[in-house]
Amino acid sequence: MEPELTKPAPRKIILDCDPGHDDAVALLLAHGNPNIELLAVTTVVGNQTLEKVTKNALSVGTIAGITGVPFAAGCARPLVRTIENAPDIHGESGMDGPAQPESAIALDPRHAVDLIIDTVMAHEPGTITLVPTGGLTNIALAARKEPRIVERVKEVVLMGGGYHVGNWSAVAEFNIIIDPEAAHIVFNEKWPVVMVGLDLTHQALATPEVVENIAAVGTGPAKFVLELMEFFTKTYKDAQGFDYPPVHDPCAVAYVIDPSIVSTRKVPVDIELQGKLTLGMTVADFRAPAPADCHTSVAVDLDHKRFWDLVTDALVRIGEPALEPALEAAAGTK
Ligand code: BDR
Ligand code: CA
Repeated sequence: MEPELTKPAPRKIILDCDPGHDDAVALLLAHGNPNIELLAVTTVVGNQTLEKVTKNALSVGTIAGITGVPFAAGCARPLVRTIENAPDIHGESGMDGPAQPESAIALDPRHAVDLIIDTVMAHEPGTITLVPTGGLTNIALAARKEPRIVERVKEVVLMGGGYHVGNWSAVAEFNIIIDPEAAHIVFNEKWPVVMVGLDLTHQALATPEVVENIAAVGTGPAKFVLELMEFFTKTYKDAQGFDYPPVHDPCAVAYVIDPSIVSTRKVPVDIELQGKLTLGMTVADFRAPAPADCHTSVAVDLDHKRFWDLVTDALVRIGEPALEPALEAAAGTK
């Protein structure tokens, strides 16, 4: 008799994001992949104001037909610094390009920090992965408000930083430099942290072949991604000289789905808070051997094909969600 294959239980995640073109793709991947159980979506100021990124998150949830998952808005400004947004990359809305439907999803009345704490405390220890794809303000505050979450969280898999490259300064990445004090808290708490930084995400380019494969899906959500990529291609070319845009945030979700797609290395990482030229740098110490108590690792190499296959497969599975009739026109599905 054939041995019965037991499928691993889906990984429970909370996606803390600032949509954002690539955050939108991260949310679609998390929703469409059967190995992920999306427990909550929380938003944080970053690519645009909190109000705008929250509206964007609800639009993506509506387009993807997400139901039964709480969406909550979090911090409207960083812990210490003044607000810095990224209109040159994401436009004035934070998600310029495609038309956005009105949201069919009601916002959870809780603050994102409380939703994160409630969710982690309500589940078995070691079962929830936090996936931040924006600044780390909400996650840092949650750790300060309810320190018990630190030992209950399975790991924090975040998009941010870079050990050899910056994009918002010579050495700092956007998600870290917009709230370096929050990043300092998150990297110094003793939970396992996987830094999916620019070294990795600059390999996640939306090449013409990737775009063709997404176009072949032929659904409303796939068309939405194509329009996001069209805008992202232009801004990444103009602002940072990329021929094809690096689609950062879904890389963190892909690592949670299948860690074999992203190779990692265990190294201590800390956040620079003092340097005039180096503020927000994720300082990674590659000297061997890593200390026994090292709880941080960095993403190194991406399997580009398998990564994009996951994104395309998620879009296929999402299909054509039934929208409220009034929303169909705005979403461009009819
Ligand atoms: C990160 O910054 C944001 O603009 C993107 O959404 C991504 O999370 C890349 O540096
Ligand atoms: Ca983001």
